[in-house]
Amino acid sequence: MRSTANAPTGYGATAIALHWVVALAIFAAFGLGLYMTGIPGLTPTKLKLYSWHKWLGVTIFAIAVLRILWRATHPAPAVAPGTPAWQAKAATGAHHLLYVLILVVPITGYLYSSAAGVPVVYLGLWKMPALLEKNDQLKEVLKFAHVWLNYLMAAVVVVHAAAAVKHQFIDRDGTLGRMLPFLR
Ligand code: HEM
Ligand code: HEM
Repeated sequence: MRSTANAPTGYGATAIALHWVVALAIFAAFGLGLYMTGIPGLTPTKLKLYSWHKWLGVTIFAIAVLRILWRATHPAPAVAPGTPAWQAKAATGAHHLLYVLILVVPITGYLYSSAAGVPVVYLGLWKMPALLEKNDQLKEVLKFAHVWLNYLMAAVVVVHAAAAVKHQFIDRDGTLGRMLPFLR
């Protein structure tokens, strides 16, 4: 059975589960964000989708915190043998940036909602605190930050995933199999 902790040569079940839960939820929140903002006017469906987007984003933030706490207490396995030093450094840099972005993207979304004066009522049940006073100027800055940090995250994820696929199928060093055990 796969150990829940990381081994020196591969990620454990907990790291793998946290990686894919966060990745899939981010894909969903990203797609929903693009779709909902494209709906013209202010319809009940649009408002409902905005709420779902916020609930999903807050949930992602909570799981991302757990993921980072897990990672801080469980060292990553060593890079695949034979990986050039610059690629190992680039991968580590991308991973650190992704850890920052999975926190900062939801934070900017939340602060944008606060500055817009719209409360987040989690799952329609719990009113969450507004972290900022309503402020129209700040609202625009935070919206800009939320949108462009999302595009930055999407670009980093594309390179990250492409690198994993290249290592798996061209270099054949088993990198993707470290996160997708059925490929091992
Ligand atoms: C990782 C989590 C999140 C992702 C991936 C994400 C992604 C996105 C995307 C792609 C958009 C559309 C951007 C565009 O206009 O092109 C968007 C818009 C938006 N997001 Fe998020 N978001 C996340 C978390 C949150 C959170 C936690 C909140 C608030 C609690 C939030 C509030 C909003 C709002 C209000 C908009 C609409 C902005 C507008 O009116 O143009 N988001 N988000
Ligand atoms: C929003 C989407 C994603 C995020 C935020 C993300 C984030 C991360 C992070 C932070 C790590 C480093 C784990 C650690 O050592 O602590 C990692 C590892 C990994 N990710 Fe992703 N990832 C995403 C999507 C993907 C996708 C789509 C693929 C593959 C197609 C992928 C494949 C991998 C692989 C293979 C590793 C292990 C790399 C290694 O062993 O050095 N990830 N990911």
